[in-house]
Amino acid sequence: MGWSLSNDVKIMSCPSEKEIAVVDFQPVGRKITIPTGTTILKAAQNAGIGISAICGGESSCGSCRVILSEKASVSPLTSLEIEKIKMDDRNSGIRLACQTKILDDIKVVIPPNSLTTDQRMQFEGDEASFAINPTIKTHTVQLESATSFDQGSDWLRLSSYFKQKGIILRNPTNLAIIRRLSPLLRENSWKISVVIKEDRFIHISNPQLFPLGLAVDIGTTKIAAYLVDLNTGKILARNGIMNPQIAFGEDIMARISYAMKDDQGAEQLQTCLINSLNVLVKDLINDANGNQKNLCREEICSQDQIVEAVIVGNTAIHHFFLGLPVSQLGVAPYVPSVSSSLDFEAKEVNLELAIGAEIHLLPNIAGFIGADHVAMLLASIQEKHDKALYIDIGTNTEITLLVNGRMIACSTASGPAFEGAHISNGMRAIEGAIEKVKLITENRFEILTIKQAKPIGICGSGVLDIIAELLKAGILDSRGALDRNSPLVRQNDKGLEVLIVPDEKTGHGADIVLTRKDISEIQLAKGAIRAGIELLLAENHLKSDDVNHVVIAGAFGTYLDVANAITIGMLPDLSLDKFSQVGNAAGVGAKMALLSQNKRELSKKIAGDIQYLELANHRDFTLFFTKAIMFQ
Ligand code: FES
Repeated sequence: MGWSLSNDVKIMSCPSEKEIAVVDFQPVGRKITIPTGTTILKAAQNAGIGISAICGGESSCGSCRVILSEKASVSPLTSLEIEKIKMDDRNSGIRLACQTKILDDIKVVIPPNSLTTDQRMQFEGDEASFAINPTIKTHTVQLESATSFDQGSDWLRLSSYFKQKGIILRNPTNLAIIRRLSPLLRENSWKISVVIKEDRFIHISNPQLFPLGLAVDIGTTKIAAYLVDLNTGKILARNGIMNPQIAFGEDIMARISYAMKDDQGAEQLQTCLINSLNVLVKDLINDANGNQKNLCREEICSQDQIVEAVIVGNTAIHHFFLGLPVSQLGVAPYVPSVSSSLDFEAKEVNLELAIGAEIHLLPNIAGFIGADHVAMLLASIQEKHDKALYIDIGTNTEITLLVNGRMIACSTASGPAFEGAHISNGMRAIEGAIEKVKLITENRFEILTIKQAKPIGICGSGVLDIIAELLKAGILDSRGALDRNSPLVRQNDKGLEVLIVPDEKTGHGADIVLTRKDISEIQLAKGAIRAGIELLLAENHLKSDDVNHVVIAGAFGTYLDVANAITIGMLPDLSLDKFSQVGNAAGVGAKMALLSQNKRELSKKIAGDIQYLELANHRDFTLFFTKAIMFQ
């Protein structure tokens, strides 16, 4: 969609008497009915539509811009909107979704910068080979039929079968399985498939069952999921969605704050996540069935075959998923409710898998280092590694140093700037985002956009490239000051800015620029990451020159230009062959823990052995950070 704006916005000054209104969200194509007086942001949240809300509706970010078309009956402009939206844009129908109340039926157009859906997903990750030995075991069982001489119960018959094989099973606690047992035995001539996990009876099915597993990496922004054949380890389908919790706050602290201030907040965050996961699972099943070559068999996959899921995420996501309290994660000393790995039935969180299916959650390390980092380490650490750094860049960047077999980890608040937030023309990595930039003459950049679409904004890797190019050309100095004599630099009403793409070449008809304030945002983000690295090294009497390997994971980490990240001082100045960009290592780690009992045990060992270094109160953090925000 373009940015064509409607001029026919009618601002209502008095409330409508209508109690219910229909809201038509475009380009999503979704209509919902809501009580009048609801804000557009709330209506979108209710509809599961992702409108960017960096501050979680706290009225401070201005990121939730929408365009009201037709004769929109809405509440008057607020003072915040007058402050945040230029008059031209206001006249063209731009409003803030968190400020605007719906008074009658309206159409809401969500521009690409505000829509949090359809972001580029990172599914692939480097993966070492490992033996497949899932915790879940599937047995094909042929029982003797009941006779008048053997009137023992069907369950007794089944448990005796396993007892003879030396497997003592606990009585099932899931009534649905017991209800299923007797008819299933008789329908299949007393031959069935039985799925067990340790001493637990997980699932029963017809004898043709091939068990499926689900590995899910729930990121703050994106969710990546993999449907796996538990017998072969083969990935049958992979799919991803935006984390719907974005509608409640861009970063984790905003979501925690939302959960704390709204009585139903935590429940909403859990429900929207589970609902999206259920849709994602259905999509995976459809994808697998549509791709028969992956199946290598006649059978059709169904949700009733998914007998176990391994799920990883940061600690707050883990708590939201489980419906655990999160308020203690939002205040020092940031303590989780639980850190150990957990196993429980999927039905306890309403995840729609096979009857009796279990979920395994990998352990967390601390309030701001979660199971996703454990999974990343599980997938990335190699025996030959020593003096190695493992970095997962996000709104919080987790860093682990491996030295002499010891692991020390920290989490640093790098913020959402590398996801395009707080950057004037920043955006996520979706179609039209500038992802690569080169300065080819003194007054012209060469750009590459995602899907080669007309540029509409700049994503994290593009911003990083621009700053590196400006530094190399001497247009930016070590303090972040711009050279006002450069033909690329001009004055705007708030300070200096760099013209990246002129209006006639953009997809929305406005210039794309990088401002001095944007540069400051990147200084803070890269400074936080570099300070975390340097503090970890200093605490272990190492210098950056001593580092042998730097493993960078995550979507942004996959697409960033390492040389440019070194130029801006985000990463230490080491030879490029010491760096590996490993893709979605957390997703790979989740899959490993799904398919290998040994890897699952190793994840517990990693979480148990790792030492946590708290940066928030560290005596030297300010010193390191102040140095690290400089471009040198
Ligand atoms: S101003 Fe922050 S969500 Fe709208």
